Amino acid sequence: MDRLEKYGSLPLPQSIDVHPTAACNLKCSFCWGPVHTIPDGLTAEQWKQVLQVCSEHGTRSVVFTGGEPLVRKDIGDIIKFAKELGLYVTLSTNTLLLKKRAREVLPYVDEIGIPLDGSSAESNARMRIGSAYAYESAIMAMHFVKQHHAHIEVTIRTVVSKVNSHDISNIGQVLSDLRSFWDRWKLYEFNPISIGDMNRNEHELAHDMFDEIVLAITQRWPEFPIVPHPVDIRTGRYLFIGPDGELFAAGPHGSDVIVGSWRELVEGRLRYDQAQVVDPRRNRAHGVPRRLSAPIHLTADGDSLVAGPYYRLVLKCRFR
Ligand SMILES: C[S@@+](CC[C@H](N)C(=O)[O-])C[C@H]1O[C@@H](n2cnc3c(N)ncnc32)[C@H](O)[C@@H]1O
Ligand code: SF4
Repeated sequence: MDRLEKYGSLPLPQSIDVHPTAACNLKCSFCWGPVHTIPDGLTAEQWKQVLQVCSEHGTRSVVFTGGEPLVRKDIGDIIKFAKELGLYVTLSTNTLLLKKRAREVLPYVDEIGIPLDGSSAESNARMRIGSAYAYESAIMAMHFVKQHHAHIEVTIRTVVSKVNSHDISNIGQVLSDLRSFWDRWKLYEFNPISIGDMNRNEHELAHDMFDEIVLAITQRWPEFPIVPHPVDIRTGRYLFIGPDGELFAAGPHGSDVIVGSWRELVEGRLRYDQAQVVDPRRNRAHGVPRRLSAPIHLTADGDSLVAGPYYRLVLKCRFR
């Protein structure tokens, strides 16, 4: 019996990334999130349905990302519901609205992702475009969370790009001085996806350069919990639910693997064998995707496979 028949309905990965909104109060040119003009497709009640179904089918943790999740007025309601389902909740936020929304969201958050892309307000503003206050806000958020919500794990996220590659060790020094206010530092190699793909010439680094920067940082601060995130690590690791309710996985070379829609998910009609890989050159940032290839199959051990014309993709997000 195949696994879809065996479970009667669909298994989902242990962790999902959701984009409750594509809207954002910044306009970072490296951003791999959805283009900000995509309207919010789901109401809070519909997001709750999605989260409920996911938690009933094997999902244990959810990352709220975007866009900027705190721009959405009803985000507190959605996050609280996720926590009530018993999910491990991560909030990835640029922090600009954190103080305003703190009471609505932070009691229900287990982990927060705080971005730091420069070692000063000026250098951070070259990456995080649209607010000169983004740097100060991130530093204040680290203090605020550890002082008032000590249960929350703080992950600092730095995108390493051509624009800030000279500044990463200075960011390390800032973090060294703030060591008690964060738990891990994720270093993301700039990945040219979505808006970032339109600005890749400005940001893209050689892979070797990223590896050298990570090595230099780990040698200088061997005691730091550093989590490197090279571009190829993304492929097959995530299942996203976009602001328009589309379910997609990360395919090779920045492509998306469109699995279905939120409605198919909540109505139990989602079929992985109808998933399509979207051409990376025509990905979701560039309008209507060109659907490329072949069906996804679940393997006996719960990985799923996409057999494309040029590659075989294993989605490592473990299906039950
Ligand atoms: C898309 S943002 C959404 C959440 C929130 N707006 C923020 O900026 O923290 C999530 C994380 O992805 C990182 N990121 C954005 N674009 C990226 C890219 N092209 N490559 C690697 N990481 C990226 C951001 O710096 C941030 O830490
Ligand atoms: S990285 Fe975050 S803050 Fe920057 S534009 Fe993308 S969604 Fe907005």
